[in-house]
Amino acid sequence: MCGIVGYTGSQEAAPIMLDGLRRLEYRGYDSAGIVISGDGGLRLCKAKGYVENLSNLIGGGALMKGGTGIGHTRWATHGKPSDENAHPHISYGGKIAIVHNGIIENYAKLRDMLIAKGVQFKSETDTEVACNLIQYFYDGDILKAVSEAALRLEGSYALGIVCEDFPDTLLAVRKESPLVLGVGKDGNFLASDVAAILQHTRDVYYLDDDEIAVVTPRSIKFYAAGLVETEKELSRVDWDISAAEKGGYEHFMFKEIMEQPEAVRKTLSPRIKDGRVLLDDVRFDPDYLKSLSRIYIVGCGSAYHVGVVAKYNLEKLLRIPVEACLASEFRYASPLVGDKTLVICISQSGMTADTIAAMRESKRLGARVLSIVNVVGSVIANESDDVIYTWAGPEIAVATTKAYSTQLAVTYLIGLYMADILGTITKDEYDALVRGLLELPSKLEKILSSKEQVQYLASIYFNKENIFFIGRNIDYALTLESSLKLKEISYIHSDAYAAGELKHGTISLIEDGTLVIAMASYTQLIDKTVSNIVEVKSRGAEILTLTTESGVASVAHTSDNIITIPDTHEVLLPSLAVVPMQLFSYYVALMRGCSIDKPRNLAKSVTVE
Ligand code: G6P
Repeated sequence: MCGIVGYTGSQEAAPIMLDGLRRLEYRGYDSAGIVISGDGGLRLCKAKGYVENLSNLIGGGALMKGGTGIGHTRWATHGKPSDENAHPHISYGGKIAIVHNGIIENYAKLRDMLIAKGVQFKSETDTEVACNLIQYFYDGDILKAVSEAALRLEGSYALGIVCEDFPDTLLAVRKESPLVLGVGKDGNFLASDVAAILQHTRDVYYLDDDEIAVVTPRSIKFYAAGLVETEKELSRVDWDISAAEKGGYEHFMFKEIMEQPEAVRKTLSPRIKDGRVLLDDVRFDPDYLKSLSRIYIVGCGSAYHVGVVAKYNLEKLLRIPVEACLASEFRYASPLVGDKTLVICISQSGMTADTIAAMRESKRLGARVLSIVNVVGSVIANESDDVIYTWAGPEIAVATTKAYSTQLAVTYLIGLYMADILGTITKDEYDALVRGLLELPSKLEKILSSKEQVQYLASIYFNKENIFFIGRNIDYALTLESSLKLKEISYIHSDAYAAGELKHGTISLIEDGTLVIAMASYTQLIDKTVSNIVEVKSRGAEILTLTTESGVASVAHTSDNIITIPDTHEVLLPSLAVVPMQLFSYYVALMRGCSIDKPRNLAKSVTVE
């Protein structure tokens, strides 16, 4: 969603911000803006649409001279995408400008209060309310004004602030929305995401909730509640900068698809020693595990789809009821959560608002929360009882690929680890699964090496307007992710169905030429799935089937085209089967000329409910 980047120092700020904003584009946005603070006061430029529009308006930065400024990409919440609603917002007195990520929940009340005092508003945003509130408290002491305003703001926010009276100073305050401060050679930085400033510095401070930072070209000072100055520890970001760049690939999504063998290897190999799964990250008491009556797996989007695969696998391995829940539904559904419940939260960003809310509700109800997270130090990682990092590296494309694969890999580790303690797995089965896990990266490489076949299939089907995915058991779980991947980047309507369910309604939509993609990797149920394929084929559907090398013979006579994946342990099949489907979505979107890394209306990290 929204992105923030700020700079104060001896360089020109505007080009630095434009570059930072481009690096934040992946988060999803619909308008962009920049404020420069200097001897001439505050100068603002904002524009609906891509950062490029903004850049053209200010001559690539050359038309906005000055060494201090803040830029922002906005993903509309309060008020439509427009020049007026874009950030930065400037206060009624003209002295203060702010950018904001998050949502001010009590903005209407505060707005009414300010209107009653005679304040006039120019936009529909909650951000302008925060800006005017700071101006309202401003009497020459900007730190105090920010602190007073922050005390009255409810909701989640990361604010970047400049004040005309302090031309080389940036202020930042946050609550439940991330902000980092970067220490540079010729100036200091402010950003919502390290990717925006990594080309300038790796030395960063992570701002905590309710803390205020005051940034000048030579210093960064921190103030906790009550404006007590505090010391913070400098952190070193150890990402390789190329990890957040395209490195010769046309799209981040394709690069991240290709990175999966290595990403999965990094997730798995440090946690498997001498044929045993070692989860140093979690501390489960065997008695606690044995007392468990239920496991909930909670997430949004693709993370939820990982949960659906894991539900099938964990129930099989652990013999405990496992439920996969959409985080947005979970906490309002009176979940049966207590001290005998384990809640597994899955989130790439660790920042998804609904998943955070589900995690907090679970803890409040007495459950232990284990999270599977990619972004180190994120809210979900910090607040969970245990966290297993996926170590996938930065994921930039909105459509997730390597995060999905590494999350899935972690669920296998959890399954093996717990089944071993619970005694619900035989030694042979355990060993076979570990062997399968260790072979996953090379099998993923094999699938990727035949990507041209998927590209060819995409060229046959890219102009379809309705596509149905069917599958049973873990293949059904996979249809959910495959269908989501396709629709989010290609804008083709598609739906995912449990293969046996189609005849209870949806089969009425099948007509001559409808494409049905059948996921038939799960050998145990392949004949059942073939029966369902026959049902749609005899009503005119074209059939593209995904199966394993050993499954080809079973589906050959009913399929128009077949995608083959290597055989593996049945629990692990989704890890292999998802990759051709990611490639298929990618190539279809490419052939349709879609904006692959930045699909319309979508955001990488959804920080609002
Ligand atoms: C957004 C992204 C999805 C992602 C979901 C959950 O909708 O576009 O790709 O699966 O959020 O994100 P999380 O960071 O919690 O995994």
